[in-house]
Amino acid sequence: MDEKLKVTANGQVITVSDQTEEKHIEIINTGLLRIYKKKNSEQLVKLHYEREQINIITQETNEGIYILFHDYRIRVKDGLHISIEKNGKEYFKEYDGDAVIYEMKKDFSLAELEGHKREETEVDFKTQINIALFDKEDKIYGLGDKAAQLNRRDYEYVSWNTDDPTAHNETYRSLYKSINYLLVNHHGSEYYGLFYPSSYKCIFNLGKYSDRFMYIGSEKGEYDYFLMLGEDPAQITKRYVSLVGNTLFVPRKMLGYHQSRWSYNAEEMEEIREKFKEYDLPIDYIHMDIDYMDAYKVYTVKKSEFPDLKSTAERFEKDGIGLITILDPGVKVEDGYEVYDHLKEMGGFATYQGEQYINQVWPGDSKYPNYFDEKTAGYITQITKDFIAENKVGGIWCDMNEPASFNGPLPDQVAFMGEDGVHYHDEVHNLYGEYMTRAVAKAFEEENKRPAVITRAAFATTSAFSTTWNGDNQSLWAHLEGSLAQVMTMNLCNFAVNGVDIGGFGNETTKELLVRWVEANLFSLFLRNHAAMNTRLQEPYAFDEETLRIYRKMLKLRYEFIPYLYDALEKAHRTGIPVQRPLFFDYPSDEETKQINDEVLIGDSLLFAPVVRQGETKRMVYLPQGTWIDYFTKKEYEGEQTYLIDMPLDSTGIFIKAGSVIPLYKNLLHIEKEKLDTLYLYIEKGGNGEYIHYEDDGESLDYQKGIYNRYKITRTSKEIAFETLEENYVSNYKEIVLLYGDRELKRPFCTEFVCEL
Ligand code: GLC
Repeated sequence: MDEKLKVTANGQVITVSDQTEEKHIEIINTGLLRIYKKKNSEQLVKLHYEREQINIITQETNEGIYILFHDYRIRVKDGLHISIEKNGKEYFKEYDGDAVIYEMKKDFSLAELEGHKREETEVDFKTQINIALFDKEDKIYGLGDKAAQLNRRDYEYVSWNTDDPTAHNETYRSLYKSINYLLVNHHGSEYYGLFYPSSYKCIFNLGKYSDRFMYIGSEKGEYDYFLMLGEDPAQITKRYVSLVGNTLFVPRKMLGYHQSRWSYNAEEMEEIREKFKEYDLPIDYIHMDIDYMDAYKVYTVKKSEFPDLKSTAERFEKDGIGLITILDPGVKVEDGYEVYDHLKEMGGFATYQGEQYINQVWPGDSKYPNYFDEKTAGYITQITKDFIAENKVGGIWCDMNEPASFNGPLPDQVAFMGEDGVHYHDEVHNLYGEYMTRAVAKAFEEENKRPAVITRAAFATTSAFSTTWNGDNQSLWAHLEGSLAQVMTMNLCNFAVNGVDIGGFGNETTKELLVRWVEANLFSLFLRNHAAMNTRLQEPYAFDEETLRIYRKMLKLRYEFIPYLYDALEKAHRTGIPVQRPLFFDYPSDEETKQINDEVLIGDSLLFAPVVRQGETKRMVYLPQGTWIDYFTKKEYEGEQTYLIDMPLDSTGIFIKAGSVIPLYKNLLHIEKEKLDTLYLYIEKGGNGEYIHYEDDGESLDYQKGIYNRYKITRTSKEIAFETLEENYVSNYKEIVLLYGDRELKRPFCTEFVCEL
């Protein structure tokens, strides 16, 4: 062993050092390590630790230092490079070679004359964490909303929340969210997770310049990362979730259909209400974009348009429709405007060179609330609460919170005074959206309501406070196809309630594109049709009879699956297991599954494979191990094979695992508690199966006090047994209907029964 290497232990923090520096390895629990030279601050990035006492052995040998715990052996070599073996096999490795970054240096000015743009790639970092790639087959998943395929390998991304409405594609380095989490697959069935906990701008270069290493580079972040170790993606994801906080459990109504368009006025909203009724279309929310405000002043209502928003909201509510209003951070600079005056007076805005900082957003000159200051955040919570109560709105849609700015980017030194001192823009930028949603979510929680909050900008930890959508996509087939990988990746990163704008936001949709889009996003927990102003209309009835008929069929199908999706969300919230999963998540050693971007596992029983390409009326579907049954044709398929399946325009690919039990609701147009009195249990062909169904009030935080029911359904090919595991909520159910083959067995609801099939 090199005599210069030293090892000391302080509890579960092992410090290794050579003559120039030291590195620490903190073993937090059997599956969670933190490796750092200096920790990133946790004043604003708040993490949770499930500490566990671990038996650790350190050894000094001729080959380096060994640290043994559980099934792992960490080895530290010269240069303090760390590698980990699991059960004697290579599992993780910091790259110990020369990490040369390739730089393009040719003069680009001629190309610029024609309008070509080139983004400069940063190459010098204060911190660079180099991780070895073992093999050309290694896959790298994660990083949230990036517009790419599931496997992000060979690309470079930048964590810097960015508002850019041009057409996103796989070469876009930054989008609206910064979620510094990677799930890496190597050596066939091995997986580990890696989280970089800094809010500062950082680069993830995932093997773009070399097959041998990837790196995280940052100018201001520290050498500090978490490693999630485990047997499979599920275990690793659970460990990641325990660190960043469980995904938000939203009101059940949020799983309904949302209709939106930038520019709806009062009259158009009425028209939607009437048309959805007339056309027998399910709907739960209409979104009100910036046009409802007076001169885009947040927390105001344009009285000429909505003289009495409260009574409008009440009228809509009678028809089962909630209203969700948009909220931007930028506060219009205007003396005499109450919110502005109040924040100005209390020093609740960000400052720059001693003055309150001004940039431009929708209202023109605007200032940015300092959500990092408790008093300011408290004021935002209060006025949000008042706004909701006064206008009876059902949810808040937080936008432009990267934060967006029309007059150039905010300088790094814009200051946000917090309880513990000042934080500058370069540190808070990626957290700005999260802190806004924290303040807004609190407005619901203080009323014992689950937050109905949507945000565009997010950091890794935001999943505990808000739902998300993926910003301004366009009416492009590529964006429809890409939406599946985007939503699956957001789910891998713990954002269960996520979706994209159906039909596409920018640009003009077509009839076929709209139909395929609503089909492809059928199981996204956030399901919203939204479009930019002046684009072609894309409401379900905007085209012809056929479009309307298929759209209606799909929405009704979605509503049937609400209890199944709600169960999966509750499970995600409680355990960290995502709702919409890539196939490899459940079949981690099946090589075929590793790069399937257009099939999604939804919960534990369903595989979804929609048509996502123009003109296709059939598609190839790979089915993993097991027997799968086509939900529409009832045809049975054996797994580990690829099939060509017919999917005419009015059909999509839903496959149920043999032996599954799926709870359904029927005949719902709105998710209202009163109407959820009949529970349907769809019993698929096949042998044994088990399912846990969850029931609560769907809206309050009472579930946190244990006020819910949990039922277990066990089935064999001969009988079905229903039992109640937990019962603290007065059930809504009056009737149970078993759907088995062509049969419908109705029975009054009771908490325990056995029934022959
Ligand atoms: C942003 C949002 C979009 C919204 C528009 C107007 O572009 O991403 O959803 O409609 O602003 O508020």
